[in-house]
Amino acid sequence: MSGTLLKYIKQLVTVSGNGKQYKIASEMQDVGIIKDAAMYFTDKIEWIGTTEQANELIEKGEMTPNKIIAAKDHSVIPSFVDSHTHIVFAGNRADEFNARLRGATYKEIAEKGGGIQTTVTATRNASVEELFENAKQLAMSAMKYGTTSIEIKSGYSLELEGELKQLKAIKMLKEALPMNIVPTFLGAHDFPKEFKDSPQKYVDILCNEMIPRVAEEGLAEYCDAFVDLGYYTVAQGEQIFNAAKEYGMKIRMHADELADVDAAFLATKVGAVSADHLLFVSDKNIEAMAKAGTVATLLPGTAYFIRMPYAPARKIIDSGVITAIATDCNPGSSFTENMQLILSLSVINMKMTAEEALTAATLNAAYSLGIADKVGSLEVGKEADFIILNSDSFNNIFYHFGINHVSSVYHKGIKVV
Ligand code: NIG
Ligand code: FE
Repeated sequence: MSGTLLKYIKQLVTVSGNGKQYKIASEMQDVGIIKDAAMYFTDKIEWIGTTEQANELIEKGEMTPNKIIAAKDHSVIPSFVDSHTHIVFAGNRADEFNARLRGATYKEIAEKGGGIQTTVTATRNASVEELFENAKQLAMSAMKYGTTSIEIKSGYSLELEGELKQLKAIKMLKEALPMNIVPTFLGAHDFPKEFKDSPQKYVDILCNEMIPRVAEEGLAEYCDAFVDLGYYTVAQGEQIFNAAKEYGMKIRMHADELADVDAAFLATKVGAVSADHLLFVSDKNIEAMAKAGTVATLLPGTAYFIRMPYAPARKIIDSGVITAIATDCNPGSSFTENMQLILSLSVINMKMTAEEALTAATLNAAYSLGIADKVGSLEVGKEADFIILNSDSFNNIFYHFGINHVSSVYHKGIKVV
């Protein structure tokens, strides 16, 4: 078999799980750095070692690359896994953002019928092709910043046909883009305005009509719900998740973003793979998540963008919770598709180390999406998904902030950026 050899890599940051598909606590500090490294790949990673070892193998005729790339003065890291996004939507909320800069809060805007509802109206009126095109632009932009695996949620239609339309747009993205795409049904993102006064009726429709149909069409791997103050209650969340599980969907959830409503505990109770946001998670629920093995997906872009306190990342990591970070890319509370910015915010504002942030954005995020057997770290047998950075150390992502450090991006061994 003949593939490509990348050699003279100053620093190959493998984030190897050493046989495990995630890292916790102090394990996150070890990002498996190999200096003066080489990596031989086809669509998969075939071999990893030093440049010296690679040269020996070539001399002995045991490695026969048909292409050799010298990555002098570059470092290589696994490509990013963005495990929480809402990139399928129409319209934009730049005006609401501007109003927030003049003092309006996210909550006030939502209470006046703006916020998620603004995007719901625009999304309901958009065609599947328009949704696909908008999302494609964002996904391709994300790729330029190093993301090759991405989770995408529905949730801006809040009625059956519109949610199916969003999920179909996600399916089209999956067919069109060189990325791993994981679809999530988020029919419980907010209550549709038609059911503002009878929210339980919508919950019943979700459970009895929408979830069965989404499952029947095979359009979503995960079911998500926004369990928070002013949105879905813990009891409603439980009803939705039990229905989703009955139809074979796995669970991930928006939990305790606006207040501590014990949503993180619900995540552990229903066996959710991940509880996301967690700005207000309680100490007791951090313990419960560590015990249950529930991933904490932290979204510092949201805290930054809506000026909220950041999630207690230190406490979460130090308690042994599997921790991931993601963009939450959406038009209202975190409008960025740039994972490098999320890494920056994680170290500066959530006090994570550079090594923890990188692990959270790659291996642990892949684990939360059930794809850590194929991506998230550079290990023999995994897909050749990686970033060649412009500088000789991954530390520069954090040190020289606000710029794009990507030189090129590979997905399944093919250069996509
Ligand atoms: O993840 N928390 C709920 N949903 C999004 C916000 C969506 C929006 O404002 O459009 C979030 O932050
Ligand atoms: Fe979200």
